[in-house]
Amino acid sequence: MESFHSLSNKESKKIVGLMSGTSTDGVDASLVEVTGKGLETEVDLIAFETLPFPEDIRRRIFELFNPEKSSVDKICQMNFLIGEIFAETAIKVIKSANLMLSNVDLIGSHGQTIYHLPPQKHAKKYVPSTLQIGEPAVIAHRTKTPVVADFRVADMAAGGQGAPLVSYVDFLLFRQQDKTIALQNIGGIANLTLIPANARAEQVVASDTGPGNMIIDAVTEIVTNGRQQFDRDGQIANQGRICSQLINKWMDHPFIKGIPPKTTGREDFGQQFAMQAIKDSKDKKLSNADIVATVTEFTAQTIFYHYQTFLLPYHKIEKILVSGGGIHNRTLIKRISDLFDPISIESAPFNDAKEAIAFAVLANEAIHGHTGNLPQVTGATASVILGKFVPAPT
Ligand SMILES: Nc1ncnc2c1ncn2[C@@H]1O[C@H](COP(=O)(O)OP(=O)(O)O)[C@@H](O)[C@H]1O
Ligand SMILES: [Mg+2]
Repeated sequence: MESFHSLSNKESKKIVGLMSGTSTDGVDASLVEVTGKGLETEVDLIAFETLPFPEDIRRRIFELFNPEKSSVDKICQMNFLIGEIFAETAIKVIKSANLMLSNVDLIGSHGQTIYHLPPQKHAKKYVPSTLQIGEPAVIAHRTKTPVVADFRVADMAAGGQGAPLVSYVDFLLFRQQDKTIALQNIGGIANLTLIPANARAEQVVASDTGPGNMIIDAVTEIVTNGRQQFDRDGQIANQGRICSQLINKWMDHPFIKGIPPKTTGREDFGQQFAMQAIKDSKDKKLSNADIVATVTEFTAQTIFYHYQTFLLPYHKIEKILVSGGGIHNRTLIKRISDLFDPISIESAPFNDAKEAIAFAVLANEAIHGHTGNLPQVTGATASVILGKFVPAPT
């Protein structure tokens, strides 16, 4: 077995990054060749795979989000079960590249967030804390590969929100000498990294912008009676008409108006928001397609509002590179492109694979003893090394 120390002496490594986000659609795995470290990091994507969660597992994960349905014995079991699914996804991506487990040096695993309580500016209603499950010891055992996992807790221990973490990797991989760019990820929640031209790490700006696919998914599931979990290619939204009155009402949500940097999740834009949106829409006698069209337009407008209010007055953004599952929703992307015109909207390098790649790169940074958070974006009091190390079994 290679120790973490001897691994760090290797100039080039094959690393699997594992991620499941707030959409809870499945586990993403990116197998990459990572060369160098820190500002010299270079990444080649070898393979990308997603393993969708089986319906029953997805339902059981959603139970854990709800304190009234969750319990400590369920969390205990799901930690191991999700560990198995993460391991299976790692094995799937390695096989799809025609490689063997022994060819892979390291795995970086984000896990599945089941609860997130970031520090609050004013109130002290709870102990700031966060919980990602998907036991890394199970992943290490099944894959016979060392694992770095659980990246968010170190940032939170240092007073940060534990998020966003991808912005440091965006900075390492995508910064440009002469152009200010933004990277916009559209997962369950939508978040951005803004990198000014020729920026130093301290100048990177990042924040959640609000909902990504989360409301669209929940509303689609309700109006199709569970037949569809998401609006494939934005087809339903494309057939509906938008109700501007409702969009204006929803835009008053305190998260949207709040000053960044800020983070959000299911607490703001989950099931409860979706149910209210459906009720509002029924009051206005909207059809099912109109409802999906209206929440899709709302999502596009929340993203645009963030840039228009908080970023564009201060930064000349040349282009916005979009990643995450939302890039496949053509209606959403078309509306975002129209709103941002003339700023160009393009697919980010690595598309859907980008978020999982970030956790491969963060694992690489960790084994080199590099810090992985940006204090100005997470609110931490210091830069810290992120991740816990689990050796391969022997
Ligand atoms: N073909 C598609 N058409 C529309 N939306 C899609 C398509 N493929 C994926 N998505 C959306 O992307 C989401 C998953 O995005 P992802 O980046 O994995 O988010 P997360 O990081 O929150 O898991 C799905 O829930 C769905 O809303
Ligand atoms: Mg996902």
